[in-house]
Amino acid sequence: MNSVRVNWQLKAILPVGFVLLAGLLLFTLATLSFRDPERHAVLIVAGAGAVAICAVSIVALAYVIQRPMVELQEKIGQVSEGNLNVAVGFSRRNDEIGDLGRNFNHMMQQLRESREEIELLHRTQMSRAEHLATLGELAAGLAHEIRNPLAGIAGVIEIIGRDLPSTSPARAVVKDVRLEIAQINRILTDLLETARPHPPQICRSNLNTTVEHAVMLARQQVLSKPIKIELQQAPDLPEVEHDSDQIHQVLLNLLLNAVQAIEGAGTVRVEIGSRDDCATVLVSDTGRGIPPLNLSNIFRPFYTTKGNGTGLGLSLARRIVEEHHGRIEVSSVVGKGSKFDVVLPFHMTTAEIAAS
Ligand SMILES: Nc1ncnc2c1ncn2[C@@H]1O[C@H](COP(=O)(O)OP(=O)(O)OP(=O)(O)O)[C@@H](O)[C@H]1O
Ligand SMILES: [Mg+2]
Repeated sequence: MNSVRVNWQLKAILPVGFVLLAGLLLFTLATLSFRDPERHAVLIVAGAGAVAICAVSIVALAYVIQRPMVELQEKIGQVSEGNLNVAVGFSRRNDEIGDLGRNFNHMMQQLRESREEIELLHRTQMSRAEHLATLGELAAGLAHEIRNPLAGIAGVIEIIGRDLPSTSPARAVVKDVRLEIAQINRILTDLLETARPHPPQICRSNLNTTVEHAVMLARQQVLSKPIKIELQQAPDLPEVEHDSDQIHQVLLNLLLNAVQAIEGAGTVRVEIGSRDDCATVLVSDTGRGIPPLNLSNIFRPFYTTKGNGTGLGLSLARRIVEEHHGRIEVSSVVGKGSKFDVVLPFHMTTAEIAAS
């Protein structure tokens, strides 16, 4: 319900006017009963006085209240047009209206400072993004150039390995070289994928199979180490809409990180499950853990604490999972180990698939 809008001057002056008029009425009734011309003159003077009091009150109120209100409205209008360099002049007054003015000016000062901070942050982010884009292009070019000779080296190693007698001790060396080549190839793939991402090819399929494949590959990497990779599947898990190649890559990155975090003996556990409307894959390790200060950095591209790492594994993993409208949750205790929980929705809407 819309209430009737009444001008504030009217609101302020009505009670005063009402009291004055009531007094005047009583006074008139009393005076008329005397039929005395002198009293009539007094009546006229009293009436004029009442009108004068009302007029003076209006002028005083207009000066004390209306002027600052009009100024405030003008300044708010300027602010809504985007001009934050405004301040009201009545802030010098030593009353409640002055308090209002000082608060307004203080608020504007804070808004100006916040805007400057945001602009600075934006400029820094933009230049960092440009820097990263250039670096990404460079890295992608380099990765592409390295891949071809690497494929040649892998072929030669394969032939050498085949020609070696089965008793030759050099066979172990050849196997190591093959593993190293596979590692370089993985890094190059991550690098190329980061620089030139391709949208996921979403299909409904069994997540257990995707995870099992990644675990199998990771187990091959730890054959010579005292590290156990345990897998707990979820046979009853409904099919999950995902790009199995990309999620396989995510899990392999998490598994290799887990393995690399363990010095000496240890265990990596992979558990498949579900929560709400999502499938979950928890990769936990008994490795060195991540200090709380570093936790916010691990998903940044090129952030690495390893001598031979590119720092692309987790940033790529997160991007892929987010393109599946999922998320990666991390928790870690230094000296005890880390947990990476990949959460993927079972279903995506058509719009979500199109946006991936
Ligand atoms: N399970 C883990 N335990 C301890 N630290 C981890 C773990 N996973 C990631 N980290 C930390 O996060 C950093 C970034 O990981 P990310 O996978 O992005 O790059 P990287 O492993 O260093 O390099 P790359 O993946 O290219 O080999 C790692 O260098 C490491 O410090
Ligand atoms: Mg990694």
